Amino acid sequence: MSSEEQRRPNNPFVVGRYVGGEYFCDREEETRFMLKQIENERDMALISPRRMGKTGLVRHVFHQQVIKEKYNAFFIDIYGTRSLPEFVYLLGKEIFDRLKPRGAAIVDKFFAAIASLRLGLKLDPSSGVPMLDMSLGDIKTPLITLDEIFRYLQASDKPCVVAIDEFQTIAQYNEKNVEAVLRTCIQQYPNVHWIFAGSERHTLLNMFSNNSRPFYQSAILSSLGPLPLERYRDFCIGHFSKRGYKIDAATVDTVYRDYEGRTWYMQLIMNELYNMAKEGYEISPDHIPIALRHILQSHSEGYRATLSMISDRQKELLIAIAKDGKVQSPQSADFIRRHSLDTASSVQSALRPLLKSDLVTQVEGSYQLSDFFLSQWLKENY
Ligand SMILES: Nc1ncnc2c1ncn2[C@@H]1O[C@H](COP(=O)(O)OP(=O)(O)OP(=O)(O)O)[C@@H](O)[C@H]1O
Ligand SMILES: [Mg+2]
Repeated sequence: MSSEEQRRPNNPFVVGRYVGGEYFCDREEETRFMLKQIENERDMALISPRRMGKTGLVRHVFHQQVIKEKYNAFFIDIYGTRSLPEFVYLLGKEIFDRLKPRGAAIVDKFFAAIASLRLGLKLDPSSGVPMLDMSLGDIKTPLITLDEIFRYLQASDKPCVVAIDEFQTIAQYNEKNVEAVLRTCIQQYPNVHWIFAGSERHTLLNMFSNNSRPFYQSAILSSLGPLPLERYRDFCIGHFSKRGYKIDAATVDTVYRDYEGRTWYMQLIMNELYNMAKEGYEISPDHIPIALRHILQSHSEGYRATLSMISDRQKELLIAIAKDGKVQSPQSADFIRRHSLDTASSVQSALRPLLKSDLVTQVEGSYQLSDFFLSQWLKENY
C-alpha cells in the first residue's frame, strides 16, 4: 500500500487537516491566483472571516506540484504567540522540520548558517535522528537569529515561500517594532516570498493599507469568500455516492445556508451526516438537527471548560449575545433589560475580554459569537 493510500481517510469530510486535493473542494481560481502571485514574486495577504478556509487554501497551494518542485515552502501559525522570540522559534523550527527528511548534510548546513540555534541541535539517543531541542528561553538574540534565518533562506537552492497564518497576532506583540523588523527582512531578502493570512480584517487592512505602517502596500490584498454552492453540492454528493450513499441536494443547500458557506462548520456537519449514512437510505434535511446534536454533545465538555474560565459577567453577556445571534448595541437599554444584565459600563468591561479572547467577534458593526456551534449550544442550555 502506498503512503497516499495509507492516508486515505475513512470519512471523506476531513476537518482540521489537509489530506490532499481529492478531499478539498474547488478553490481552483483562488489557487491559480495565488500561484500566479508567487511566480510573479508578489507577497500576498489573504483575509477572510473565521472558518472560511484560509489555512486549508494555503495548504492546498503548497500541495501543488509547481510549489513542490520549484520552491521551498514553509508554514507557521502564530496564533497565541506573544513575542518576537516565539515567532523566531516557530520559524526556525518549521524550517528545521522541513529540512530534516532531506538528510544530515542539509541539516548541518542549516545549523552552520544559524549559529544561534546550534545549541538546540540534539541527536535522538535511540534513533540518531537530529532534533531541535530548545525552549523559547534559548532564543536570546531574536533579531540576530531572524537575520540568520533570512540569510539562510536567501541563499537557498530554490526560492522560498513563507506563509504566516494568523498574521494579525503580531500587532499584539510585546515588542513594538516587529512590523518594522519584518518589513526590513522582507525587503532585504528577495528570494523569500510571503503569504500573510488572517481573519481580523480591520487589523490587517490597517497594517497593509495605512501609509504610516511599515507594511503599507507591501502585499496584494485578497479576500477569501465562501465556496460556490454548486461546487460544494457536487463535492458532497460525489463523496457520498462513491461509497454508495445518498444525500439530497437540499441537505447540502440547507447546511450551506445555515453556516454561511463557512467550510469548517459545513465540513463538520457533513462529516457527521456521512457517519450516519447507510446504503439504500437517503440523507435529507431532517438529519441535520441530529448531526448537530451529536456535534454539540461531543463539544460540550470543551464548552463547559471555556465557560469556567471566564467571569460571571462575561458568561452572562456571552449567553445574551448567543441568544440574540447578532447584536448591534450590547450597551443599549433594551438589550440590557431583556437579558437582565447589569449596567452599560459593566457590559462594556465584560465585552472587552470576550473580544480579546475571540469568543466574541465584530462583523459589519454587529457583535456575535465567533463559534456558531458554541452559540447554538449556549442557546439550548441556558
Ligand atoms: N475547500 C475546502 N474543501 C474542503 N474542506 C475545506 C476547504 N477549505 C477548508 N476546509 C476545511 O474546513 C475547515 C476550516 O478551514 P480552515 O481552517 O482553512 O479555515 P480558516 O479560514 O483558516 O479558519 P480560522 O479562521 O479558524 O483560521 C478545515 O478543517 C479545513 O480542513
Ligand atoms: Mg486558519
